[in-house]
Amino acid sequence: MYDNKSVTVKRKKDHLELFRAAPIDSRWTTTLLECVQFIHCALPETALDEIDLSTSFAGHHFRAPFFITGITGGTPEAATINRTLARIAEEFGIGFGLGSQRAMLQDDDLTTTYAVREVAPTAFIAGNIGGVQATRYPVSEICRLADRIGASALCIHLNPAQEILQPEGDRSFKGILTAIEQLTHELDIPLIVKETGAGISRETALRLRDAGVRHLDIAGAGGTSWIGVEILRSHRDKDPQATAFWDWGIPTAAAVCETGGLGLEVIASGGIRTGIDAARALALGATLVGAASPVLRAYYAGGLEGARNYIGSLLHGLRAATLLTGCRASRELATAPRFIRNPLKEWVAERREPHA
Ligand SMILES: Cc1cc2nc3c(=O)[nH]c(=O)nc-3n(C[C@H](O)[C@H](O)[C@H](O)COP(=O)(O)O)c2cc1C
Repeated sequence: MYDNKSVTVKRKKDHLELFRAAPIDSRWTTTLLECVQFIHCALPETALDEIDLSTSFAGHHFRAPFFITGITGGTPEAATINRTLARIAEEFGIGFGLGSQRAMLQDDDLTTTYAVREVAPTAFIAGNIGGVQATRYPVSEICRLADRIGASALCIHLNPAQEILQPEGDRSFKGILTAIEQLTHELDIPLIVKETGAGISRETALRLRDAGVRHLDIAGAGGTSWIGVEILRSHRDKDPQATAFWDWGIPTAAAVCETGGLGLEVIASGGIRTGIDAARALALGATLVGAASPVLRAYYAGGLEGARNYIGSLLHGLRAATLLTGCRASRELATAPRFIRNPLKEWVAERREPHA
């Protein structure tokens, strides 16, 4: 209708190829999760295998607070990746996000590349579409995207920084908030608004909350740089006007703090790589943590077994960090004793009184 299917599919292929070659992370921005120092508990009086990782998000029970965030769709390779990662989500009782379903809007036949329900009958599966696409198609069509794959929730991704750095990307971001508000009324499953690596601020979270949104994936800076991806894809890595944006965004830990205390359920993602990263994000108030790039890299290195081992070891690390802070459940990390260092401490103080 409005988009060209071959451009969409080619872009998704390019993204996977670039990722296969090397991780494309922030160059100097960190997540700031390293600023969260837990106070070690030398007397935990519990056992590692008794640590409870379960939680609930968007009314769904999770056996562990982890979400494989949206990666791909639209191609035969994407279909295999989606089915493999969804199968792992089912095994671990965690969440799985499909990549953008834009290709499905352009060609119904590509639905099969997103169809994972069969291999993940009970897992929390999220559909995915861009905010800009949500303004261009009737609300009923966007709702149908989720229906057709039996999704538990629909993610609307916001990625203005990536689009602007993408030569063929969108240039107008008008009407997205209205489209989101309509979707919160029309969808009969939860709506999750997500970024893709530049974070969500308190101001944006408040506008989304006013529009009826209750779930965010803040996808902050410090992990995959989508701006970096687009710079490499368009061979502009020697262009200082472009590379100056490589590290643009709100660091993940700062975005979790920004969006806390607003009555929203928050997924912390962007640069979550280890169990300790996960524990730190949960300590700052996130309900779930999410990751894309390390899961995909583990899959490329070792297939289903590789991705399964990666998630298993991240959850082992989370369990260990929970025990070592004296907690019995990862849900208790929100109140675990900690020391917050600069620059995260300064960030939070400054943003609490922005005009002081
Ligand atoms: C290869 C690849 C493709 C992605 N495609 C999508 C997408 O289609 N839709 C989306 O919302 N996010 C997409 N993302 C963004 C991730 O969901 C995530 O927000 C971002 O990569 C930051 O997390 P990370 O540092 O763990 O990779 C993609 C990520 C990767 C690595």
